[in-house]
Amino acid sequence: MTQLTQLLAELQERFGADADAAIGEQALENVRVAYLGRNGEVTKIRRTIGTLPAAERPGAGKAINDAVAAMEERLKAAQAAVESRAVDAELAASIDVTFPAIAPAAGSIHPVRRIIEESCDYFMRHGFAVVVGPEAEPDYYNFDALNIPSDHPSRESFDSFWLTDSVLLRPHTSPMQIRTMQEHRPPIAIVAPGKCFRRDALDARHLFQFHQVEGLLVADDIHFGHLKGMLTGLCRELFGSGQRVRFRPSYFPFTEPSAEVDTTCPKCRGESAEGRCSLCGGSGWIELGGAGMVHPNVLREVGYDPDVYSGWAFGFGVERLGLARYRVDDIRRFISSEPDFLAQLS
Ligand code: DAH
Repeated sequence: MTQLTQLLAELQERFGADADAAIGEQALENVRVAYLGRNGEVTKIRRTIGTLPAAERPGAGKAINDAVAAMEERLKAAQAAVESRAVDAELAASIDVTFPAIAPAAGSIHPVRRIIEESCDYFMRHGFAVVVGPEAEPDYYNFDALNIPSDHPSRESFDSFWLTDSVLLRPHTSPMQIRTMQEHRPPIAIVAPGKCFRRDALDARHLFQFHQVEGLLVADDIHFGHLKGMLTGLCRELFGSGQRVRFRPSYFPFTEPSAEVDTTCPKCRGESAEGRCSLCGGSGWIELGGAGMVHPNVLREVGYDPDVYSGWAFGFGVERLGLARYRVDDIRRFISSEPDFLAQLS
């Protein structure tokens, strides 16, 4: 009996090793036949039962059956392993490692960002510094210091998203003029790009969150001609060398005199028959923002003597520049997150 147990144990061990070593279904089938087949090793052992004393035969039969059950389990596991190796091999054969890879989809710089960068580059080349500041501003920076007292009617158009009684999301980048002048003495030459917020209803020309580029130059003897030169240069940089700029008299509390600044419509160049241009509505001009000579009250507020220093300032809408630059007739497309559309604009 012990002899039989030992024999079966050895047999199972050999069987396991052979099953593991079998490569492919046929090889495994050969192992099965050699051990469990009609004339296999197990059958040979079974035939010896007859030589045992009658009392030992049932026990021997059970031991052999248990061994067979264990070997069949083992066989199933080996079959599963052979099958999965076959799938791996098939897969490996089907992968062509010389095939060109699919390029990952790379994003592109957003057109608004690109215009900010190009505008800042232009001013930096002319000796201006780029400054950025908070998007939530106390009303002092946003209004009072810019010569807009609390009862001034022009607060109305800027009066937008208040966070507390005295702090609001800035509706323009002009507060950066005050922040910079309070920190530094003239000469001052800065550009301040950034986000702005206003309670405007969304349409083809308005967003409630948009970007501006603010500019400020304060030194001795600065005049309106310097402003015209710099802004004409900016438009030529962004739109091409033939670009023209128009200054219309306007009003801002923080400048005197003040102007609205337009540039030639790059789509129709002012030549659309019967005013049918979808970009400028036929006027031939696109409005970019406001500008002017810094108001003496603003200079006084930051401790500069208006008899000694003068300066100009401007604030342009970046999305407005985008409309002209990319000839897009709906400003909402810039926030539409359409990668195909955005990738076309460069
Ligand atoms: N802050 C003005 C606005 O958002 C635009 C502006 C006008 C900025 C004149 C200036 C300026 O710096 O001088 O409507």
